[in-house]
Amino acid sequence: MAEAPAVVGVLGAGTMGSGIAQAAALAGARVLLHDPASEALDRGLATARANLERGARSGRWSAEESAAAAQRLDAAPELGALAPCDLVIEAAPESLELKQEIFSQVAGVVAERCVLATNTSSLSVTAIAAGVPGPERVVGMHFFNPPALMVLVEVVPGAESSDEALAVAQAAAGAMGKEVILAADVEGFLVNRCNRPFGLEALRLLEERVAPFEQIDRIVRMAGGFRMGPFELMDLVGVDVGLEIARSFWEQSFGEPRWRPSPIAARTVAAGRLGRKSSRGYYTYGEGRHRPDDPVGPESGGGDGRLVVIGGEATVAAELLELAAEAGWDAREPEDAEGEVPAFILDCGAALDGPALQGGPQAILCATGSLAALDPAGSAVGFHALPPLAETAAVELTRGPGSSGAAVRGAEDFFASIGLHAEWVGDAPGLVLGRIVAQVVNEAAFALGEGVGDAADIDKGMRLGLGYPRGPLEWADAIGLDHILAVLEALNDEYREERYRAAPELRRLVAAGRLGAATGGGFH
Ligand SMILES: NC(=O)c1ccc[n+]([C@@H]2O[C@H](COP(=O)([O-])OP(=O)(O)OC[C@H]3O[C@@H](n4cnc5c(N)ncnc54)[C@H](O)[C@@H]3O)[C@@H](O)[C@H]2O)c1
Repeated sequence: MAEAPAVVGVLGAGTMGSGIAQAAALAGARVLLHDPASEALDRGLATARANLERGARSGRWSAEESAAAAQRLDAAPELGALAPCDLVIEAAPESLELKQEIFSQVAGVVAERCVLATNTSSLSVTAIAAGVPGPERVVGMHFFNPPALMVLVEVVPGAESSDEALAVAQAAAGAMGKEVILAADVEGFLVNRCNRPFGLEALRLLEERVAPFEQIDRIVRMAGGFRMGPFELMDLVGVDVGLEIARSFWEQSFGEPRWRPSPIAARTVAAGRLGRKSSRGYYTYGEGRHRPDDPVGPESGGGDGRLVVIGGEATVAAELLELAAEAGWDAREPEDAEGEVPAFILDCGAALDGPALQGGPQAILCATGSLAALDPAGSAVGFHALPPLAETAAVELTRGPGSSGAAVRGAEDFFASIGLHAEWVGDAPGLVLGRIVAQVVNEAAFALGEGVGDAADIDKGMRLGLGYPRGPLEWADAIGLDHILAVLEALNDEYREERYRAAPELRRLVAAGRLGAATGGGFH
């Protein structure tokens, strides 16, 4: 393990640079902050100092620590002042030529052992390093916004990065109290790459009119446990910024179908609806909140000893049996209810050669297909929910032209009895959340197979970098990898698009019977 650098230079005193300088000073380094725009430098320094004081007031660190950090933090109006640095972190505007030029200038000022780290989020570390004398000392250190508070840093080796340079970057991030993950130098590194489908699949659902954007967001919050839905997040980041990132993924990958930018995003930008910053994106921002609070789910209970039959091998079936029993239902598997007339039936992919699931209104799990594919001309409704159900507040329901009133009422009654708020959406394999999560897991499985990062770092990165309620791979292990693969296969079948091809890593695990926690192992 390398020692944390004693003198750290930060280039660019904007949003990221100011926060990185603050974190480095708190970590005990002497920090030299440089920006060619003197107003930007003054503002960046003032922001870092104000945030140090604010942190002390709110008890994040002591007043002494704040004062000492502020003492260690200095402006470096001239680049030459960076000569004593052991590490220089660059947070200048996102331009390859600019970053190459800055590092080349700095390389002429600092000692040879000084590590040059770029905070780029979309450029190639290798490409930046290629224009710099001594490319082995150039690495990526990707912070998350706001950098002083977000605890994740992706350390990214370029093609020429030396082990020593990587160790210095890791030690510096560690000293700042950051969790470090190692990510390959590919589009979006690890975290932003794995998160691509969160927005893109939500836009596809909107395009197909499976649900309006407010409802997609509500489902992702209530059923998925995310703090923000994908459209709120796109508005926050900037719809134009998101579209640019999508374009860059698409171009850098020479047209990967999973990363195709959304025409809806392009139209939204063309209309000047850029998100919060223009007071209008998908939502309108003015006085008050942009959306209502989420509804509170029903109290569980009310099964009243009625018979509910729940069939299928999916983990969700086992969880539903348990919740139904807790809510007072006489909850049984099909083989324990032969010849009886249930009040309601939930088919979670029951085996075709098993006992018949009939004699009552039905809801079918839309994992292996849409309701239209699974119950052609039938009277059932469709539903979808992802384990762990104990951490879910909503279920998604869908109906077709043939769905009976009894099935509609039965599904609403059953899911309310187990404490879940119901959202009626259009028909599609996995409905809304299942489809987004299946694609996020798929992207993570591709990234894993391509060596972009390991399973532990993928999960840690998504939790700490983006506030995911759980890492996608640990989530997949809880859901069941066969369930995820079923949704992907059904999407692939229905759309015949390469976008929905399942990652080889996921297929191989399912083929080997490693289906997740229920089988003792999956991705983990
Ligand atoms: N904002 C984010 O959420 C975020 C997150 C992760 C990474 N990044 C990356 O961090 C970098 C900076 O982003 P930001 O949001 O802080 O931008 P910003 O516009 O807030 O700040 C950039 C600063 O760089 C200064 N600058 C211009 N030319 C310079 C030069 N030659 N040398 C040094 N400084 C120069 C500008 O005056 C400005 O103060 C970009 O590469 C961006 O991709 C941003």
